[in-house]
Amino acid sequence: MDKNFYVTTPIYYVNAEPHLGHAYSTILADFMARFHRMLGYDSYFLTGTDEHGDKISEAAESKGTTPQKYSDEISGKFRATWDSIGIGYNDFIRTTEERHKKVVREILQKVYDNGDIYFGSYGGNYCVGCERFLTDKELVDGKCPEHNKVPEYIEEKNYFFRMSKYQDWLIEHIESNPDFIRPERYKNEVLSMLKGDKLEDLCISRPVSRLQWGIELPFDNNFVTYVWFDALINYVSALEYPSGEKFAKYWPSVNHIIAKDILKPHGIFWPTMLKAAGIEPYQSLNIHGYWNMDDAKMSKSLGNVVTPHDLVGKYGNDQIRYFFLKEMTFGSDAKFSEDVVIDRINYDLANDLGNLINRTFNMAGKYFDGNIPETSADDIAGTGNLKANLESAINEFTSHCKKFQTSIGIEKLWEFIRSLNKYVDEYRPWELARNNDMEKLSSVIRNLLESIYAVARLLEPVLIKISPEIMEGLSMTGVEVEFSSLSSLNNLCTGAALNRLPILFPKLEKTIKEAIETEKKDNKKKAAVEGLIEFDEFMKVDIRVAEIISAEKIEGSDKLLYLKVNSGIDERNIVAGIASVCEPEKITGKRILLVANLKPATIFGKESNGMLLAAKENKKSSPQVIFVDNAIPVGARLG
Ligand code: ME8
Ligand code: MG
Repeated sequence: MDKNFYVTTPIYYVNAEPHLGHAYSTILADFMARFHRMLGYDSYFLTGTDEHGDKISEAAESKGTTPQKYSDEISGKFRATWDSIGIGYNDFIRTTEERHKKVVREILQKVYDNGDIYFGSYGGNYCVGCERFLTDKELVDGKCPEHNKVPEYIEEKNYFFRMSKYQDWLIEHIESNPDFIRPERYKNEVLSMLKGDKLEDLCISRPVSRLQWGIELPFDNNFVTYVWFDALINYVSALEYPSGEKFAKYWPSVNHIIAKDILKPHGIFWPTMLKAAGIEPYQSLNIHGYWNMDDAKMSKSLGNVVTPHDLVGKYGNDQIRYFFLKEMTFGSDAKFSEDVVIDRINYDLANDLGNLINRTFNMAGKYFDGNIPETSADDIAGTGNLKANLESAINEFTSHCKKFQTSIGIEKLWEFIRSLNKYVDEYRPWELARNNDMEKLSSVIRNLLESIYAVARLLEPVLIKISPEIMEGLSMTGVEVEFSSLSSLNNLCTGAALNRLPILFPKLEKTIKEAIETEKKDNKKKAAVEGLIEFDEFMKVDIRVAEIISAEKIEGSDKLLYLKVNSGIDERNIVAGIASVCEPEKITGKRILLVANLKPATIFGKESNGMLLAAKENKKSSPQVIFVDNAIPVGARLG
């Protein structure tokens, strides 16, 4: 079998600028292309823009420009965004290009000649956001659930594609090709659409009287082509179907990437169109979920947009790639939050990977003058075990990534990275150095450097800028090593000088506000543990200087005095347990510290409105009243 791999993204509508959702699909496709290249495949990666139809025509009009000018501008922005974040597409197709229009006309003519296109009349609910008619079943409360809008009822004479004819064939094809639509849940979704009802034929034209912005039908110039019938064909027009070499070479290995929003056009329209045109069905349709922000879909129509360019500028190119590929479980929705971006950078990239590289390079510097040490022939440093772990990490990483399960694949690789940090702790190179066990020390450091090399190679499709820096650090730039020998732990050049690396993944602070919030929470936790109180809590106690106006013994008690004090805010009475140490007449006129906001209490029949501060050496000793200097004014508050 030829080792070719053809990967596509949806071609994005040019009715608004590129956003995060687009960036994810495109980064995933870019990853898959590079990943397969790493495995020895000849990868071909196509992206582009979808420029015809009502939606674009309306958007251009609202901006007071022509659809062509508008498309040129936005399409240019998509391309510039991808270029700025290092997307290595092989081709960028625009549906307004002649090379595409030509193929659309050719396929239409072919299907028409075969008798699968007929003229008829149809009325239905059209959603401009989706650019398609929705069935009654698809509506939620009479609205399109995707765009939250009531569709427009359209009835007109048009051309139809006999999609219904291929319903049974498609069911059969999906059921006998398990990877045709994946993950499973979306395969089931398509099957249930197909098995539920009789498939309707697809309306594939728009009268020129209503829409001019489209490709004219080759067999009737009063109509233009329906935008989905036009757009889907990009996947073959870019390969110069029918006679192009690229078509022959890459089409059999095509892997489409889309999100769940456009499952029906890709899962039903496209394979039946291919079948009718006599083209082999695609190999695999791969569907991912949505990135959600604050529980609402992050989309152009809903207007809550973060631009990919800003995000990369803020956190770093490879950091964002890592985040996307690690954080979304393929097929499920994921929540986008900058907090999680920061966590992934700080924990996975800075702590696990960055720290491993940093400490290994430092030790190689300290113990071997920054040169790559040799490894012992004997397994004195757990080399065998390390090799086995690396081999299984490579297998897991590659097998999951082949199925688009990048998050699981990367996690498996990280398990290995974390095990390397444990390996350092287990072999304690600093102790080996202290004991002058140079043979073992040399093997340990070499094993670590070799492992870092293998990891950096495996991460090349993820960390497109940083992996090459690590290679450079290991003096491996330009040195070719077969993928299959990565787990040999014997690829570096003994004695070669390591190159100093910058800090690869600088740690990020969350915003200052968040940092303060976290600190507060941490302090509260600590206080709860250690019996500390917050300053705020202390300040709740109103302690102030008060002067004793009068004092008398309380009948029936030999401990208590009944005092009248001036607190600076009022005159009040308090009961104090100081009779054993103070004679009433001697303390009159003296100043004490009063807890002024204590709840009143009745003691020995007298109301006490506060408490005087006294100190005791221990529980049993008598209290010592804290008198304060007369220079401190009455009413002065402690704190
Ligand atoms: O549908 N999360 O173009 P489009 C994840 N032109 N991915 C998202 C996303 C989100 N919140 N929002 C968008 C079209 N995407 C047609 C396609 S193909 C022949 C024609 C990504 O601009 C995802 O890949 O609306 C989704 O399928 C695509 O953008 C829709 O882009
Ligand atoms: Mg859309």
